[in-house]
Amino acid sequence: MDLETQLLSPAYLRNPHPLNAALRSADPVQRAVASGGLSVWVVTRYEDVRALLADSRLGKGVTQLREAVLLNAGDDERISQFTDSLTEHMLNSDPPDHTRLRRLVGKAFTAGRIEQLRPRITEIVDNLLDRLSPGQEVDLVPVFALPMPTTVICELLGVPSVDRSSFSHWSNVLVSTAEVGELAEAGGAMVAYLAQLIADKRANPCDDLLTKLVQATDNGDQLSETELVATAFLLLSAGHETTVNLIAAGTLTLLQNPDQLARLRSDLTLLPGAIEELIRYDGPGGMVLRHTLEPVEVGGVTIPAQQVVLLSLSSAGRDSTRFSDADRLDIGRPIGGSVGFGHGIHHCIGAPLARLEGEIAFRALLTRFPDLRLAVPPEELNWRDSVFIRGPESLPVVL
Ligand code: HEM
Repeated sequence: MDLETQLLSPAYLRNPHPLNAALRSADPVQRAVASGGLSVWVVTRYEDVRALLADSRLGKGVTQLREAVLLNAGDDERISQFTDSLTEHMLNSDPPDHTRLRRLVGKAFTAGRIEQLRPRITEIVDNLLDRLSPGQEVDLVPVFALPMPTTVICELLGVPSVDRSSFSHWSNVLVSTAEVGELAEAGGAMVAYLAQLIADKRANPCDDLLTKLVQATDNGDQLSETELVATAFLLLSAGHETTVNLIAAGTLTLLQNPDQLARLRSDLTLLPGAIEELIRYDGPGGMVLRHTLEPVEVGGVTIPAQQVVLLSLSSAGRDSTRFSDADRLDIGRPIGGSVGFGHGIHHCIGAPLARLEGEIAFRALLTRFPDLRLAVPPEELNWRDSVFIRGPESLPVVL
């Protein structure tokens, strides 16, 4: 079966779990074919996904991955002009570059540093929710789930508030399956914007992460200009594209599981565990990409060298050999073992931030709106057209 038919079908994007379950039992290391004849191996069992996430025989191989990420773009010149500036960051690097790029950013993302953001994140959440009233019908994505993490990451990096909506638009286009012209336009605008912003920080240093990265000389290691633009892009787009889905898809999941929602409302100390469970059950990270540096045997199959591998985090989270009664949402489930934030050297650097944002957002939402419900049947929701990021595009609710 070809990859587009299988993985990019609206039915799979809406609900990947039935096909994932079938793959786990019948064909857990499946070879699929993407456009242009590129072979892609789809890995679905928990044990295999977790092992490969931490396996140094799989790397990021930016060139190959670029083809896979920009599935329809291939070598188009309009795209290749700016791809370095958007891809030369830690998520696309192997050691030793990965180690250097991650170390510089890691200092700002420790649990302790992130905890210091609690008062400001609470203020951002309250400001957004103060504009809404119980009983009102709204789309939760544009009024809350998106602007909350977007404001947080833009403030952290030092992106001026007037520029944020253009940034969100470009970021959204770049992770979608938009056609080449649209990708090129968004990519070009993004790179030009970030290069200018970096020049501004250099000329007028501020107390923000981007200024720190510009100034960073970590034991003599410095980011090249291209790496700096790419790192800013990675942090801003990760901050835009992930937590929004934790809040939107998480709210949807809770509304579809009223017993668990009632349990959480009656004891908000369950929130940290509930967030981990929402990420396991249907988290924002659908699949992650790797590339075999040498032949790798997994699940009884040998994947040759130089192949693109898709590791399904959504599927791993529903593997009943690791999680008992895996298709049931249980917010009291023992925490641990989930690969929803990845595993190994690329484990999500933003996890402490996402957890804190999720905790503050769900606490406020559930406390302020005791009768929160969906305004449309769940089948009518549109899902993001990406296998890498999962979540509904909009979430109409009655508050
Ligand atoms: C890496 C998930 C929020 C920044 C990752 C990876 C996953 C992930 C699965 C590993 C990718 C791979 O192995 O290829 C999530 C989820 C989030 C979230 C589910 C929200 C619920 C954030 C936020 C940031 C962020 C808010 C903020 C800046 C990053 C970065 C990496 C990463 C920079 C690359 C780490 C590396 O390559 O060493 N994330 N993420 N993430 N995430 Fe997140």
